[in-house]
Amino acid sequence: MGVEKIRVIGGRPLRGEVNIYGGKNAALAVIPAALLTDDVCVIENVPNMDDIRIIKLMLQELGADVVLKDNVMTVCAAGVRDKQPSAQLAKMIRGSFYFLGALLGRRGYASVAMPGGCKIGERKIDQHVKGFEALGAVVQEDAEAVHARADKLVGTEIYLDMPSVGATVNLMLAAATAQGNTEIINAAKEPHIVDLANMLNSMGARVRGAGTDIIRIRGTNHLHGCNYSVIPDQIETGTYMIAAAGAGGDITIHGAIPVHLDALSAKLLEMGVRVYEGDDMIRVVSQGRLRAVSVQTMPYPGFPTDLQQPLSALLTTAQGVSEINETIFDNRHCHIAELIKMGANATVQGRVATITGVESLHGADVVATDLRAGAAMVIAGLMAKGETTIGNVHYIDRGYERFEEKLRALGADICRIHE
Ligand code: EPU
Repeated sequence: MGVEKIRVIGGRPLRGEVNIYGGKNAALAVIPAALLTDDVCVIENVPNMDDIRIIKLMLQELGADVVLKDNVMTVCAAGVRDKQPSAQLAKMIRGSFYFLGALLGRRGYASVAMPGGCKIGERKIDQHVKGFEALGAVVQEDAEAVHARADKLVGTEIYLDMPSVGATVNLMLAAATAQGNTEIINAAKEPHIVDLANMLNSMGARVRGAGTDIIRIRGTNHLHGCNYSVIPDQIETGTYMIAAAGAGGDITIHGAIPVHLDALSAKLLEMGVRVYEGDDMIRVVSQGRLRAVSVQTMPYPGFPTDLQQPLSALLTTAQGVSEINETIFDNRHCHIAELIKMGANATVQGRVATITGVESLHGADVVATDLRAGAAMVIAGLMAKGETTIGNVHYIDRGYERFEEKLRALGADICRIHE
């Protein structure tokens, strides 16, 4: 078995319809909530991708019964006793760290290895730790893991220094079964935060304010099973929108929530792409050369950092000079060097990438430097003249289900090869 790569022959417009899967980052937040009850939780619209398969294995390791079939995950955590998640799995993904909040809420103690995830800059956990401590836990970090223990969790006010998605999720999970009221101030407002609140509420929790700066949680000592459906993937939706804008053509994306993509739609419109929205669909029509734009990544509802890299691929051929200021992570421009191999004219200074649009990209042998960088390289491949091969496809498999298959159905010339 050789090295797996994705091969794209560029220059074909995308046309047709595509359906969006459930959100990766939403599912990663929602699934650990099932640890807070012994009842069965049936979670629908779960994407089938590597990150989710790792979470499934972690749950099974703890003693939960888990089935993932046809994008429905059934979890029964009744068999979860005193085991800890193994470091080997926890280190593979970022979402593994949510087991700390969920297990703390379930049984008052947990040890979870420092989480992995894409290498896109420093990814601190101080806000998670501060919040757990405020809830009454004793938290210790050593070379192996983060250990948290609490005789009982007691609700309190927690101010986050920045609206961290991960800390907000972890603290919501821990606070759901704490005694009394918790307020998370300066909470993240991303769509998956609202999704987790809805999941917890469907289990009998009392979470209010998700989607605003302050989330209020009235702890309850009994949560029950639920049937829940994960929201559509905001980033997968955005990736197809940018792909169509770059390759040209006319695609309709179904099963999306257009308001979650407002920041991207605004930027695409500014570039000269036509974007039409319906209740749960977005149509993207693109032809001819687009205009350069400048973008600053921001917490939701600002421009999402996860779409910054795909957008930068699109900007490589836009007329004029674009600037991308990455304010969330301190090292999320590694893919720019790969775009340059394809003919892009771009420079990076600290957190700012400056891209001067060229007439066209040409195919090249490149690599995905992380998950969304991988999506960016595929988009660049669709836009380029000739053949592009993309290595490190395992990054892409972490976060996109049936990526090549869905693009092929839209008319792209893309396949997986073994070299
Ligand atoms: N931060 C701290 N201290 C903390 C927590 C965060 O300083 O305790 C800093 C981080 O270092 C970073 C910033 O705050 O600079 C934002 O971090 P955040 O906690 O919001 O991000 P995350 O929870 O680590 C999630 C997603 C990322 C996405 C970001 C931002 C998951 C599993 N991951 O990461 O998704 O980019 O929020 O929206 O939900 C991806 O899907 O490709 C991806 C990287």
